[in-house]
Amino acid sequence: MEAFEIENLNRRFAQAAPEELLAYFLDLLGKKIALSSSLSIEDQVLTRMIKCIKPDARVFTLDTGRLFPETYSLIDKTNLQYGINIEIFFPDYMEVQDMVNKNGVNLFYESVEKRRKCCRIRKINPLTRAFTGLEAWICGLRREQSVTRKDMQAVEWDESNGLIKLNPLINWTEEQVWQYIRQHHVPYNTLHDKNYPSIGCQPCTRAVDSGEDIRAGRWWWELPEHKECGLHKR
Ligand code: ADX
Ligand code: SF4
Repeated sequence: MEAFEIENLNRRFAQAAPEELLAYFLDLLGKKIALSSSLSIEDQVLTRMIKCIKPDARVFTLDTGRLFPETYSLIDKTNLQYGINIEIFFPDYMEVQDMVNKNGVNLFYESVEKRRKCCRIRKINPLTRAFTGLEAWICGLRREQSVTRKDMQAVEWDESNGLIKLNPLINWTEEQVWQYIRQHHVPYNTLHDKNYPSIGCQPCTRAVDSGEDIRAGRWWWELPEHKECGLHKR
């Protein structure tokens, strides 16, 4: 998609509710658009919105094999509550096997390079497979989440994957997300009640202290500017 088309869409939906943006693209693209859900509070909001707009729309998650037990429980609970079937994409077992035999099972603590290798094998490569047949993907990114996300737009052209990328909640605050969750009884990860504001893989996520940044518990041993797994390269 051309840059001016993306610009036009962002202008068109600048004041619109996330549901309007979602409805437009779900209607336009059908099975060629999917929500990439990490089961975060944002993704749970989007799952509920999507379910209301188009009940058979696709939702997938990348099961890295290292998720929290609470996250697996939430996958089940969400499927049950909304009568959906979140598609699971798993890493290639040969790639994981080679990596852990060569670098150890907890390689990510040793260097940024090894951490990125693990993210590549457990997340990025499966994501590339999940993209088969898609023209657009939907994500739960919000601008205020991180320094690395402050310039992001609701509609983007994802150059590295050749896809439209939608961030319907890009302007939302964390409070707006929680308000929606409470109002619509959206199921959420019970770890959020134990000071885990942002949740990824179990070995790479810890609880935060009060006053700490929401992403302080993600890859906490790395510098803030390194804290992206590569899923959202720009
Ligand atoms: S990350 O880059 O630090 O891991 P974050 O956890 O903030 O990303 O999630 C941002 C968005 O990326 C999510 O809202 C979701 O759209 C996508 N995402 C992250 N992790 C996954 C996952 N395991 N499966 C599917 N989508 C994911
Ligand atoms: Fe591996 Fe940690 Fe990345 Fe998960 S977040 S894929 S465990 S490095």
